[in-house]
Amino acid sequence: MKGIILAGGKGTRLYPMTFSVSKQLLPVYDKPMIYYPLSILLLAGIREIALISTPYDIDDYRNLLGDGSKFGISITYVVQPEPKGLAEAFVLCEDFIGNDSVCLILGDNVFYGQTLSVLLRKAVDIKEGATVFGYPVMNPCSFGVVEFDADGKVISIEEKPAQPKSNYAVPGLYFYDNSVVEIAKSVKPSPRGELEITSVNDVYLKQGKLNVILMGRGVAWLDTGSPEGLLGAAEFVEAIQARQGYYVCCPEEIAWRNKYIDTEQLLKSGKALKGTEYGKYLISLAKE
Ligand code: DAU
Repeated sequence: MKGIILAGGKGTRLYPMTFSVSKQLLPVYDKPMIYYPLSILLLAGIREIALISTPYDIDDYRNLLGDGSKFGISITYVVQPEPKGLAEAFVLCEDFIGNDSVCLILGDNVFYGQTLSVLLRKAVDIKEGATVFGYPVMNPCSFGVVEFDADGKVISIEEKPAQPKSNYAVPGLYFYDNSVVEIAKSVKPSPRGELEITSVNDVYLKQGKLNVILMGRGVAWLDTGSPEGLLGAAEFVEAIQARQGYYVCCPEEIAWRNKYIDTEQLLKSGKALKGTEYGKYLISLAKE
């Protein structure tokens, strides 16, 4: 399975912070936002990743993440000339995806929780159709929303509905079989001029191939779309790390625990950051 991280867009809701810096490079406490979705792909066992960003920002991501070897993965960089919608990711990455299945994660989505690895494995193991998640929120109007019947079967999916049919939002983490490329090419832009991911999911739903896995209380899906959300996410990460000593979404740690990199590489990454708590953490892991 291939992975795509979508880290483009204009980030206008966070101006002036994102006027000259890509939103997904802003810090969430002690690491760039992009480390969080990158960690999720690593946890899911995905090691061939394409990162999509704007023509102006793509080099900043390349400088930060390189070819991926420090995480034991490969990263390909793809430019999205204009923010024409999330589903354009599959069209831009057609060659990269080849004949594989693919997971898309939005570069501004932060997840954390003990049951997450199990849910990710479950999604990776479903070989046919699309698999998305359902997450209860207080403000479903701001998201894609799924509706279920009495048996728990999905019956509708809508993008930012004015009258949501449930309080289950669809987070920015999606798993697809290979037909997603052709489906993304076939969907028409929405009234706001974007190729909506929800339109792609709706095609799968109509084919009877949309799976929804519920994320329960054990998983945190944090908002980074507003200054308050960003601060709240940073405080969440700080609280867990200060209490437990375990880092939240440290891609070097996940890569090392999953044996994508050896202890020598972990130590090298730690030493490159020595003088920071992050670097000291990597070095302490290497001495475990
Ligand atoms: O976060 C989950 C939600 O993400 C889903 O529930 C919605 O169904 C989905 O449409 C999406 O809604 P948003 O309103 O959050 O999408 P937004 O346009 O803000 O884009 C999400 C991220 O993707 C954002 O950080 C910028 C990036 N992006 C967006 C577009 C439209 C791109 O890189 N390229 C694009 O063309």
